[in-house]
Amino acid sequence: MKLIYYFITAICQILTVSALVTKRGTSAKDEYLVTSLPGLFHNIPQEEIPLMFSGQLELYPENKTHYYFWKYVDNHKVEKAKGKTIFWLNGGPGCSSMDGALMEAGPFRVNKQGEVTYNNGSWHKAGDIVFVDQPAGTGFSYSDDYDETLAAVVHHFIRFLEKYYELFPEDSENEIILAGESYAGQYIPYIAEGILNRNKDSQDESSKFNLKGLLIGNGWIAPNEQSLSYLPYSVQAGILKKENPNWTSVMHQHEKCQNIVNQINGGTLEEGVNANDVVSRECEQVLNLILKVTLDNDAAKNQQCVNMYDFTLKDSYPSCGMNWPPDLEYVNPFLNDKSVLNQLNVKLHQLWSECSGPVGRHLRNKNTEPAVSLLPGILEKIPIILFNGNRDIICNYIGTENFIKNLEWNGAKGFPEEAKAQDWKYEDEIVGYIRSARNLTFVNVFDASHMVPFDKPHVSRSIIDLLLGEYDEKVDEKDDDKKIIETYPLGYKKEEEQDEQENGSKPSVGVTKPDEGEDDTDSESDDDSDDDSKNETDELSLTNKNPEISNTTSRVTRLIQLLVICIIIWGVYILYLSYRARPSSIIKSGPSSKKKNVQWADQLRMFQDEDAVNRQDNSNFLSKAYNKITGHSDAKVRYTPTPSEDIEMGSATTGPDPVEFVINSDDEEEYQVRQEAPLPELPLPELPLPDLPSEEGSKGPVLK
Ligand SMILES: *[C@@H]1O[C@H](CO)[C@@H](O)[C@H](O)[C@H]1NC(C)=O
Ligand SMILES: *[C@@H]1O[C@H](CO)[C@@H](O)[C@H](O)[C@H]1NC(C)=O
Repeated sequence: MKLIYYFITAICQILTVSALVTKRGTSAKDEYLVTSLPGLFHNIPQEEIPLMFSGQLELYPENKTHYYFWKYVDNHKVEKAKGKTIFWLNGGPGCSSMDGALMEAGPFRVNKQGEVTYNNGSWHKAGDIVFVDQPAGTGFSYSDDYDETLAAVVHHFIRFLEKYYELFPEDSENEIILAGESYAGQYIPYIAEGILNRNKDSQDESSKFNLKGLLIGNGWIAPNEQSLSYLPYSVQAGILKKENPNWTSVMHQHEKCQNIVNQINGGTLEEGVNANDVVSRECEQVLNLILKVTLDNDAAKNQQCVNMYDFTLKDSYPSCGMNWPPDLEYVNPFLNDKSVLNQLNVKLHQLWSECSGPVGRHLRNKNTEPAVSLLPGILEKIPIILFNGNRDIICNYIGTENFIKNLEWNGAKGFPEEAKAQDWKYEDEIVGYIRSARNLTFVNVFDASHMVPFDKPHVSRSIIDLLLGEYDEKVDEKDDDKKIIETYPLGYKKEEEQDEQENGSKPSVGVTKPDEGEDDTDSESDDDSDDDSKNETDELSLTNKNPEISNTTSRVTRLIQLLVICIIIWGVYILYLSYRARPSSIIKSGPSSKKKNVQWADQLRMFQDEDAVNRQDNSNFLSKAYNKITGHSDAKVRYTPTPSEDIEMGSATTGPDPVEFVINSDDEEEYQVRQEAPLPELPLPELPLPDLPSEEGSKGPVLK
């Protein structure tokens, strides 16, 4: 049986490969497909493997600007996830959004073995999610030039969006949610304002960006005011005590910052104080000082400093959290592994590091107002949710609450008395509290750090429901005066509504509960909604799902299907080639080619899964053929080969012959290689980067 199976797959491959030899015609999007990753087919349930696109999109050929993105699309979207694209940005400035992708809101985490594992609280279930490294110099994004102002950041991000929609025109009508964290509290309002202005200026309705709302987690939005929260927060958290011998020096620094905030708010500036400064030096120093004076010299080395991203944790000094989250230890080698980079279509790159110093040093934002000044204008048009993990020090919730108090938007200042804090309930647990008025919502998330989706993936995903109004407001059973806001795991509400239709009776939400004793309500409900939706997508998976069919029968069925698919692919491909041969624009290659790509990815997955089940050596055979077809693994000196010992600069040129590398990497199973040997660091094909400005401006903790 197996023999026949391999015979057929082999024929399939010969056919497809020969088709490509005849004419190499791939759509622009094909080059960005991700078809394998270490652990993908072992650790991720087959039906949960998302459709993925990743790569470095060219924005400006003049100075070689390329922005790296990684897009995840759920293959079994619940109804409310359709027609939405979430763009996620990490902060820094200069911190890679791969933090968000691989440690926070994305579908994968990376384990000790350097394999991807499944995050079942991933945001891609709530809408397509795209993690973007920006500005240039961050993560895998690069350019000859660095951005120096937020205005430049906006300009380039809008350019990215335009290029992105050229690549994915089918998404151009989608609702856009801009999401991110920390210093993205500056990026996101600036970009939102840029998009809204662009929409206003645009004559053509279809070219507008359909911006729906903003989600900012532990945002650095009003830096000076937020710096005034370090002292009260540290005292409340028990980090800093009045008995501390340095208490007065901290107080003194706090007052200096207070003085600057007063001057800016009062409009009477002393010399040296600049209202158009994202953050003043004096304010920035408060946290540094607190970290310094709370140092515990008697503790073990990695326990001496409080972790500024989660006050319940410790780190070594002066890192104080830069070694956190713990997954970083695995993400770092993962994103510097040449086979992974190959799979992610990363062509030209620097050594991946979580945060780039040069990006932060260049983005000096001279004469730039902090993003808080843009919120009122944005809130007139779209809703914003500011959420905070309550264990974070650097962008703590007290700071967010305080600047909201002083903010005037949509006709009033701060939250009104009536907009009391409401408990937020998710899966029978109070997970935080919420205040909301006039399009602005503040969410305090309990037991979460600076990176809320890291600690609370499911809960954090439900913040999207708050933005979209997918929640119930109920009277608190214990207190009639109080209201509770309740959100539900994905698909749950939908299921309920369907019950309603079927039974013709309105369910009482208070009575209906997610299946008790069923831990994994999420994927449970996802499955339900899959079955509910007409399942037009892949009839292939039906055989896998149906337990009635015995193993042998299903194998025969699959073989037949395989054969049919091969013939169909072949036929479609020939048609496609002839279509492509016509002189038409590459970008406008039409929906037919798009469909094919998606279908291909699905089938590929199905084949891969078969292979994984059979555990044969050639399990990656098809994917390799596929990579060849799409040009993914054509390792034409894409990476400078690894020199055996010396990783110093300049040694790259003396590495082994590139051809050797190609042969090796082709012959071996990538993830096996990974498990056997620790990864040597990649020598960098150094990008030509301009000279750095002086060290000045590099002070202050990193807002990742
Ligand atoms: C989903 O996540 C929960 C924890 O939130 C875990 O207990 C469960 O095993 C996970 N399910 C899958 C399919 O990974
Ligand atoms: C809030 O945002 C909506 C769009 O979601 C907008 O139409 C409305 O005018 C805004 N509300 C206020 C009070 O400005």
